Amino acid sequence: MDDTPRTLPRYSATLTPEVMSEIRRAAATGIYDIRGGGAKRRVPHFDDLLFLGASISRYPLEGYREACGTGVVLGSRFAKTPLELKIPITIAGMSFGSLSGQAKEALGRGATLAGTSTTTGDGGMTEEERGHSAMLVYQLLPSRYGMNPDDLRRADAIEIVVGQGAKPGGGGMLLGQKITERVAGMRDLPQGIDQRSACRHPDWTGPDDMEIKILELREITGWEKPIYVKIGGARPYYDTALAAKAGADVVVLDGMQGGTAATQDVFIEHVGQPTLACIRPAVRALQDLGLHREVQLVVSGGIRTGADVAKALALGADAVSIGTAALVALGDNDPRWEEEYRALGTTAGAYDDWHEGRDPAGITTQNEALAARLDPVAAGRRLQNYLAVLTLEAQTIARACGKSHLLNLEPEDLCALTMEAAAMAQVPLAGTDWWPGKGGM
Ligand SMILES: Cc1cc2nc3c(=O)[nH]c(=O)nc-3n(C[C@H](O)[C@H](O)[C@H](O)COP(=O)(O)O)c2cc1C
Repeated sequence: MDDTPRTLPRYSATLTPEVMSEIRRAAATGIYDIRGGGAKRRVPHFDDLLFLGASISRYPLEGYREACGTGVVLGSRFAKTPLELKIPITIAGMSFGSLSGQAKEALGRGATLAGTSTTTGDGGMTEEERGHSAMLVYQLLPSRYGMNPDDLRRADAIEIVVGQGAKPGGGGMLLGQKITERVAGMRDLPQGIDQRSACRHPDWTGPDDMEIKILELREITGWEKPIYVKIGGARPYYDTALAAKAGADVVVLDGMQGGTAATQDVFIEHVGQPTLACIRPAVRALQDLGLHREVQLVVSGGIRTGADVAKALALGADAVSIGTAALVALGDNDPRWEEEYRALGTTAGAYDDWHEGRDPAGITTQNEALAARLDPVAAGRRLQNYLAVLTLEAQTIARACGKSHLLNLEPEDLCALTMEAAAMAQVPLAGTDWWPGKGGM
């Protein structure tokens, strides 16, 4: 017997088993990988920041006796009827088509119970969502799928989508298996055929046209409704400045960890900037225009906890928006469906083939039998609970920093664990009063 000592098999850091598996998949099929969700690889994130908390130089607030406000008004710049939210956390736009009617209803129910807004998406407004959302933001997207001028008037705010963090510069996909008669009817497109959403608005080539579009929307809606502009986190300083100059009431800024219903994996992982890196340039753009807090900034992309909420607000956002985490709260990727996830070749927590429409949890599907598994009332309550926890967690941190309102959190309350996070968030590296680029930007 050969008893020569052997070393352990050694994988390449470049050609990891995952990379090789993808090469084999590509070689076998000749098609690129499409999936849902956001960037899976680790990039600098809110976890790389810490709050300092009060002690002698700062005075904390008492949790049970001293209030810490959570309300925020979105759209106070020009709209006659801005949205008054009880909490600074909104539900992001997710299309009917990617999501079932039951999931849309549950999002509306949960958001309403929590005192916040929900948002339509590519594919138009459903009765499930309008009927159960006290505050509903209607998206005007490049694709115009499901776009209906009457629905603009039935909405409480309008969000012009220029881009998404998961795919700035690109459009989404809805595969034929999810294009049922109802979805096709709403989108004016044939049933069962793959749909690719446009990557740019058909009637504008630049910010001047966006200004005209914003004016058109204000006229159609009698200057009542706030107009948001949503951008993917690519060039946040210039895009925020241009959206604000074009007349937006609210800028929604979605970083690269932001989820999508379906697009190319290569897009999700390799285009855009981390959410953490996008916030300060956007805030600076608004400050340079004298519009910080007058034009509200809503940040999304990878928000999961009350600490994330508090950190985004401390960096200068007025509110945050959640997509994927809201779906998890409804029941997405729940281990109770593990056997069925296994049958789909995946596992609870990693299931991202949302475009296939075979979601055992009944959320990212148009299959009636699967969708019927989701009870919108119970799922709405779970979302309400989750939003309550996010808010309580953020308040706990704010009080510890001596703040009587979540919006009083500030960069000065933070430090960073890594050089990258310090540079991106422009807060001191822990143990120092310095961050890369300080004094030079
Ligand atoms: C299932 C799903 C569908 C989505 N559909 C849309 C859409 O129709 N329009 C849009 O602007 N963004 C869409 N998004 C992106 C969200 O609005 C939001 O930007 C993103 O989910 C935020 O990141 P998070 O998922 O990490 O919270 C979708 C996201 C998901 C997960």
